[in-house]
Amino acid sequence: MAATSHAEPNLSIGGSEVHGFVGAIGNTPLIRLAKLSDETGCNILAKAEFMSPGGSIKDRAALFLVKDAEAKGLLQPGGTVVEGTAGNTGIGLAHVCRSKGYKCVIYMPDTQSQEKIDLLRMLGADVRPVPAVAFDNPQNYNHQAKRHAESLDNAVWTNQFDNTANREAHIKTTGPEIWRQTNGKIDAFTCATGTGGTLAGTVRYLKEISEGRVKGYLADPPGSVLYKLVETGKIEREGTGSITEGIGQGRVTSNLAPDLELLDGAVHIPDVESIKMVYRLLDEEGLYVGASSALNVVAAVEVAKRLGKGSTVVTMLCDGAYR
Ligand SMILES: Cc1ncc(COP(=O)(O)O)c(C=O)c1O
Repeated sequence: MAATSHAEPNLSIGGSEVHGFVGAIGNTPLIRLAKLSDETGCNILAKAEFMSPGGSIKDRAALFLVKDAEAKGLLQPGGTVVEGTAGNTGIGLAHVCRSKGYKCVIYMPDTQSQEKIDLLRMLGADVRPVPAVAFDNPQNYNHQAKRHAESLDNAVWTNQFDNTANREAHIKTTGPEIWRQTNGKIDAFTCATGTGGTLAGTVRYLKEISEGRVKGYLADPPGSVLYKLVETGKIEREGTGSITEGIGQGRVTSNLAPDLELLDGAVHIPDVESIKMVYRLLDEEGLYVGASSALNVVAAVEVAKRLGKGSTVVTMLCDGAYR
């Protein structure tokens, strides 16, 4: 099993063929949401990450986390990738590992659905459901993942929350794609954060290329501490909890930290708005996307209203509603 047997992907190739699963990651369409754009007198644009080969935005991070481990010499052919994840990152990693000939071990809380476990196992991952305990408990799934990687030879804990290779994926791919797809005619970018990689990396790139002109806004669900942090500087939860998956945070991750001060503001989106938007996107656009994508679109509309008529706001459609 040679880990280097596949050609290195060039995510910005722009040509007619790509190399394997990893080459198909990125370069997703940027969809203009017609009804919402007409209604606001703005351009509301959303990147179709549900069209990524592993079905979500996290394929980008998974690829960069694995490439980072390869570049640092932490992962040799036949090696093992270990991550603690309950969601899309695990699916992205399972695909990337399988396509590159690595083993993949996923630790997750045992509260997760059987469907998710079955999918990961079908993709070849060794799935280890463990008791769902708080982060400060050494038996938390993330700590178990770290210890397991440390106990093996030729293995890496990819550590999506604090490994900035995740954020790098969006500096190198998502940001440049958005800039190219809008011909630089973009006024703001907004999205929610789980690890923070997407928001931080994309805003960092867009700020740099536009010399600070493009604005960046955090979109935050109830139960997260980040909305208050961006708006008031205090770490304090806003709301109690959310039905959205993969987003909302109780701390500032290493992926978000370097770019937090770049943000121009934050929007707090109640679940009821996100749920209504899931159905609006289906009714009006025929798009069947998950709740975090819907929340992002609600935020994009709010930001467009703040910036005024004629503005162009970009956000992410992170995964499909099937997830
Ligand atoms: C559905 C979904 N939306 C959004 C995100 C957040 O992306 P990021 O981790 O880059 O902040 C995730 C992350 O797992 C996700 O699964």
